[in-house]
Amino acid sequence: MTASRDFAETLAKVKPEAEKLMAQYPQKRSALLSILHAFQNAEGWVSPEALAAAAEMLDLPVSVVESTASFYTLFFRRPVGQYVLQVCRNLSCQLNGAEEIMAYCREKLNVRHFETTYDGRFSYEEVECLAACDRAPCMQVNLEFVYDLTREKIDEILLAMNAGNFEVAPLPQTVKPDVTWFVAHEGEKKSPGAQGVSSPNDPGGIGDPSGRQMIERIVRDPGLVEARPTAERLVRDGAARLEAGAEH
Ligand code: FES
Repeated sequence: MTASRDFAETLAKVKPEAEKLMAQYPQKRSALLSILHAFQNAEGWVSPEALAAAAEMLDLPVSVVESTASFYTLFFRRPVGQYVLQVCRNLSCQLNGAEEIMAYCREKLNVRHFETTYDGRFSYEEVECLAACDRAPCMQVNLEFVYDLTREKIDEILLAMNAGNFEVAPLPQTVKPDVTWFVAHEGEKKSPGAQGVSSPNDPGGIGDPSGRQMIERIVRDPGLVEARPTAERLVRDGAARLEAGAEH
């Protein structure tokens, strides 16, 4: 059940912890990530009020706090379910069956990437490498690792969560989550291959056509993407030409 939300109460709870965290560093801004975790532990997500409160405590612009929070999949910037399943979609996991695991999770939960089940219990996301490649395929549940995934293991985990005896505690839920917890990137200039697709940052796997659309468009019309040398290559090629010139 969703508890009612009182940010003043949250702030009163988090502030003493934040003060202890800030005191551990020569520069208090170094406590930023820990303070964001403290807010998330208290509310189940990092709300706009929490970002503003962290900025005030740390004497930082809110934009700096927000850009830090948005960089990590560790922080949920919209209300999420009590259990957030973040399945790795990167190479080692893919080679060990992640595609099947992701499809199974989506089927069992009846959700897509960045969605929450209607009862608000589970949120689901496909993420980049979790740095546990030796135990692939893997995921994080409420930021705790779960390794060596199989369909059977997913069944056991979901059963335990529904029974309330899963080893990882549920997140507090102070606001009922919407179906999606995706935070759109606003005002981004898209590359030519990404024009007209929902988001160039979408996974492009099953259930999301963006990556496939981009590739098909580029294959159909190779002139669409202008080949420009990178700065690094310009320097290297320039040096090679200089050397060649010196020889002649
Ligand atoms: S590829 Fe999945 S943990 Fe590294």
